[in-house]
Amino acid sequence: MDKLTVTGGRRLEGQLRVHGSKNAVLPVIAATVLNGGKNVIRNCPNIKDVYSSIEILRYLGCEAELKDNVLTVDSTQMTGDTIAEELMRKMRSSIIFMGAILSRCGKAKISMPGGCEIGLRPIDLHMRALKQMGVKISESHGYIHCSADKLSAEEIHLEFPSVGATENIMLASVFVKGSTIITNAAREPEIVDLQDCLNAMGARVSGAGGSVIRIDGVEKLHDVQYTVMPDRIVAGTYLVCAAITKGSVIVDGVRPDHIEAMLSVLREMGSSVYVSTNSVVCIPGKTIKPADYIRTMPYPGFPTDIQAPFMALASVAQGTTIFAENIFESRYKHVQELLRMGADIKTDGRVAVVRGVNKLTGANVAAGDLRGGAALVAAALAAEGVSEIGNVEYIDRGYENIEKNLSLLGAKIKRVKS
Ligand code: UD1
Repeated sequence: MDKLTVTGGRRLEGQLRVHGSKNAVLPVIAATVLNGGKNVIRNCPNIKDVYSSIEILRYLGCEAELKDNVLTVDSTQMTGDTIAEELMRKMRSSIIFMGAILSRCGKAKISMPGGCEIGLRPIDLHMRALKQMGVKISESHGYIHCSADKLSAEEIHLEFPSVGATENIMLASVFVKGSTIITNAAREPEIVDLQDCLNAMGARVSGAGGSVIRIDGVEKLHDVQYTVMPDRIVAGTYLVCAAITKGSVIVDGVRPDHIEAMLSVLREMGSSVYVSTNSVVCIPGKTIKPADYIRTMPYPGFPTDIQAPFMALASVAQGTTIFAENIFESRYKHVQELLRMGADIKTDGRVAVVRGVNKLTGANVAAGDLRGGAALVAAALAAEGVSEIGNVEYIDRGYENIEKNLSLLGAKIKRVKS
């Protein structure tokens, strides 16, 4: 696997543009199989999870091409309803193809999904919802077989506002006669993006962004051209990189309303943050202050996906920050690597106590998952000396050209190919 080498201690200065959202584009890509048409997805990030989705599309018989952040998908000749195990293993969000394939073909065969190992990540909520809609589900040889002669419109209550389950139900129900209602739906902006894309294809979905989503079935969908929303987690990561190096950075192409929870913690930690319509400016304070208590919560709460980068920031704050990870039960893999860099962190179950140290020191570390990897990059930018970050492939799942973007801001970072 590739490595990043980072020589820490340089303040980041300058301006950068955030790419399209990974978590928004993946369900949008799954949606392109629904209409049996020619689709153009703009602002598509050039990241590994998108390549994995393209492989799935091609395996299903669709034509897909990504060029200059424009993804074209022709699903007219889709022939398959099965996703091979090696493709499903590459990322967890491949599970949302299940709802889309079911919608298009009336059946789907997929294996249990893979992805970053940040907890148990079961798919019981997805399964329960589909069963309620009349899908017959059986398991054999590591595959889940789903089939339905006819899906029925139901009122589906999610025990927990799962992002993936909400998306799967939306994708499964676009053609279902009547009104499918999801209560306690996830409220993440990426759900709104999926709603907007589906509606641009001719679907009738409303309520996304709130807890109740309604899908009125339509008979068919048409081709779509759609532009994906900016990546709020990538925006947050670069803002953390600015704050941790005490640099001043303008992050462009963001939706400040999507990142309010992160901005309020950045301010609490001593940075001045100014927002305009599509950009955020982060200017360092005299010191990095601790945050009192960072709890990850479903949107609009503090996102679990940005917990690790903020932990890197807290590790050099002048005081103690307490983290509670409420979404995934084992999302602290980055802690052992931050300790190697001199951080003072203790974890107990879902809680982490981070006592800020005066400085981190460069070390050889390895990414254990996508956002944990980004946290190590942030820490390395602030550390004294050189760090080597292994397993960069995890970071490539969600960040387009991280080393190039950070270099443009003045970081000393380069990729060493394996
Ligand atoms: C999505 C995001 C991921 C983010 C997460 C939470 C994508 C591609 N990924 O993941 O980056 O960290 O939302 O914001 O959009 N759960 C169950 N049963 C289920 C489904 C989920 O118990 O059937 C649990 C999970 O184990 C987890 C919690 O619910 O503890 C949240 O999961 P969910 O919202 O479904 O996350 P993902 O869709 O996997």
